[in-house]
Amino acid sequence: MSNPVIMAPSILSADFAKLGEEVRAVAAAGADWIHLDVMDGHFVPNITFGPPVVAALRPHTDKPFDCHLMIEPCDPYLEAFANAGADHITIHAEATRHLDRSLQEIRRLGKKAGVAINPATPESAIEYVLDRLDTILVMTVNPGFGGQAFIPAMLDKITRVKRMIGERKIDIEVDGGVSPQTAPLLARAGATVFVAGSHVFDGGANLYGRNIAAIREAA
Ligand code: DX5
Ligand code: ZN
Repeated sequence: MSNPVIMAPSILSADFAKLGEEVRAVAAAGADWIHLDVMDGHFVPNITFGPPVVAALRPHTDKPFDCHLMIEPCDPYLEAFANAGADHITIHAEATRHLDRSLQEIRRLGKKAGVAINPATPESAIEYVLDRLDTILVMTVNPGFGGQAFIPAMLDKITRVKRMIGERKIDIEVDGGVSPQTAPLLARAGATVFVAGSHVFDGGANLYGRNIAAIREAA
């Protein structure tokens, strides 16, 4: 329970017509990282944005850009996201044939490396790449859309991931259905990075600070 809480608002729920302004607003409202959901309409049933949008947002804040790539394949695009200004690059274990190689490539590009696992993927899928990781993203919904219901069975997975990490310095990130109600359960299980879209971008920019604080305090 003494774990640090890193708040990473997902701009998936922001107003896409004014993304720069939205990024500045959540940064000012207390975001620690900015979570950027990249979707390809192939690995996930939705399409969002790519490296040019990440690059366009880069001048709007100094906060770390946490790029969650829901794209398959990912390898051909890692360098483009690195050059666009990503600080953390998270790829899906299910979306690359040679996970170990892809993770090495992210670090070679000088970025923090993360791996995401879908709800149906067991934590054993990442057991042999732990030393290549800065973050493990446990999906708490099926990736593709904001505003979905949190899957309670993921709490047990987070506990197992925490046990597996042992003394390594790896953050456990959770993504999907994160709210003031689910945050305490997630924190208790071992989560340290809280991605939240719909529960942050709710009620207009002057409520973002309150929304972020509510999740942080609950965690
Ligand atoms: C889902 C994305 C999430 C999404 C979370 O595929 O990875 O980052 O924005 O949205 P909420 O917080 O609304 O569940
Ligand atoms: Zn995400």
